[in-house]
Amino acid sequence: MAKDLTGKKVAFLGAGKMGGIILQALLKSGLLSPKSTFATVAHEERAEALAARLKVKVGTNNVEAARKADIIVIGVKPQVVEDVIREIHGHITPNQLIVSVAASVPTSMIEKNLSGNVPVVRAMPNTPCQLGAGMTAISKGKHASAEDVAMTCHMFEVVGRTVVVDEKHMDAVTALSASGPAYIYIILESLAEAGVKVGLPRDVATLLAAQTALGSARVVLETGDHPALLKDAVTTPAGCTIDAIMELEEGKLRVTLIKAVVKAAQRAKELAFG
Ligand SMILES: NC(=O)c1ccc[n+]([C@@H]2O[C@H](COP(=O)([O-])OP(=O)(O)OC[C@H]3O[C@@H](n4cnc5c(N)ncnc54)[C@H](OP(=O)(O)O)[C@@H]3O)[C@@H](O)[C@H]2O)c1
Repeated sequence: MAKDLTGKKVAFLGAGKMGGIILQALLKSGLLSPKSTFATVAHEERAEALAARLKVKVGTNNVEAARKADIIVIGVKPQVVEDVIREIHGHITPNQLIVSVAASVPTSMIEKNLSGNVPVVRAMPNTPCQLGAGMTAISKGKHASAEDVAMTCHMFEVVGRTVVVDEKHMDAVTALSASGPAYIYIILESLAEAGVKVGLPRDVATLLAAQTALGSARVVLETGDHPALLKDAVTTPAGCTIDAIMELEEGKLRVTLIKAVVKAAQRAKELAFG
């Protein structure tokens, strides 16, 4: 399958939070046209509301949406993926591409529920995709080609950055960048609370915390410098920052973050479907 999305029909099965974010972004970017886009949800009233908002065909019939599509994006909850694949399997051919964003669902589980060598690509995005600042890791299934992976990257580049990884890393990706926004929000909430504690108005404290996180992340991404070196540049001998760092070390911030990601990765593995 060529990398270009022009003229491709795309069906989003399960256009909820994540599916909806990607669907909207692709429509807004012009990469997909409303007339070549189909979506499904579970509830009829949600379908009507989504169709009115996005001006695309939205229904509850997965077979009808999937059979017409060149690319089928699976956006339902992980525990529903197998049912949806079984429902559509008789209508899917190896000329179509399945892209699944479901956590803990290996490509092999989808492949074994389809007949023939249908290409499957797995993608693990995160919620900042809603502002085009997402991070999506992408891995190929057994029958997917390099072009299928390139096409999937092309779709997700509309909502942020992409990286191609081996599927064995997907639970780690889920734990780090898919769950990651939750950890960062806790850190931001805590820094804002700290600002309030030292006398700042809450809105100012939240702005200072969020813009500092954004700026620091951009420096890491744009300079490629090691975060430890960048931290050293902020830490004046006998200054204020080193006192704060001592508190962070005593509170075991580093090891706590490491353990949190390890736990989430273990949980993603435990939940594996199929
Ligand atoms: N949220 C995240 O941060 C995130 C990050 C990475 C990956 N993911 C993955 O994205 C997937 C969806 O998560 P989400 O947070 O977007 O959940 P969500 O908002 O609950 O979306 C799920 C959607 O699936 C629809 N649905 C349920 N059963 C269906 C069926 N049989 N056929 C068609 N549609 C059906 C639901 O319809 P109704 O609206 O009518 O109920 C809903 O719109 C999950 O597999 C998750 O692992 C999520």
